[in-house]
Amino acid sequence: MRSLFWTGKLSLPILLLVNANNLLAWLIGNSGNKPAMKERVKLGYIGCAVKAVCGDISHYMLTQAEENSKVAGYNLNRIRFCQLDAESLPFDDNSFDVVLTGMSFGLFPNQEKAVYEMFRVLRPGGLISLGAHGPEHYWEAIDTTIRALNKRHVLGYRFEFWPRTEKQILYLMRNAGFKNVYANRFIWRNLFRTPAEACDFFASVSSNWWYAKIPESRRLLEYQKAKKFFESREIRQVTDDVIIGYGMKPE
Ligand SMILES: C[S@@+](CC[C@H](N)C(=O)[O-])C[C@H]1O[C@@H](n2cnc3c(N)ncnc32)[C@H](O)[C@@H]1O
Repeated sequence: MRSLFWTGKLSLPILLLVNANNLLAWLIGNSGNKPAMKERVKLGYIGCAVKAVCGDISHYMLTQAEENSKVAGYNLNRIRFCQLDAESLPFDDNSFDVVLTGMSFGLFPNQEKAVYEMFRVLRPGGLISLGAHGPEHYWEAIDTTIRALNKRHVLGYRFEFWPRTEKQILYLMRNAGFKNVYANRFIWRNLFRTPAEACDFFASVSSNWWYAKIPESRRLLEYQKAKKFFESREIRQVTDDVIIGYGMKPE
């Protein structure tokens, strides 16, 4: 069967339609107006650009995301930065084509609710990509830091809600109603030049919620203790372990 859409060479019906339309444009005087044509082309391409909402519970992280987007040259008119809780998204049902979460999942206490919220706001046929921490994520650094810290500041507090396995991610997505789900695990090892650099990397990306439990007057001391521990154990490697799940909301 002949398709009406272009499949490499123009089909006869399309050729006739294009030529008839060009003739009509010439007859009503539209074909001479080239600036107007350029404007329509420009607007058409702007219309194709994606609109995105970037959400996080932390206002500080949103300011960082906005700053990074500026530096990367993204069109900020098309990105909305929105403070939100992933377990209760402030959006209508069926309002997004794609929902992505990157490396935040292990911090949500109610992960079933968070996945269900992503399902709810996706339109039928929409896609989810869910990035979670795997069981080995930052393990050398966590182990060393916990050993070093004064236990009074950390005992009895739950840090976060990982590790997760591929099986668990698949279960969560299927349970929320997603179809065509699959999950991949990626592991890579970051090797720092010195243990102090490894400690600083981990402190900068991860330990704020521990510091939040440590009185401000003690924070520098605890950080220095952790750094000494990294040095005495010669910890230079910090593992990244990431599980990414994909799926589709049924049509
Ligand atoms: C490890 S950072 C990842 C940041 C960013 N997604 C990325 O990949 O670079 C984890 C982020 O999860 C955010 N977060 C934690 N709990 C959240 C929640 N309930 N709702 C929304 N964001 C949350 C934190 O504020 C933090 O910015």
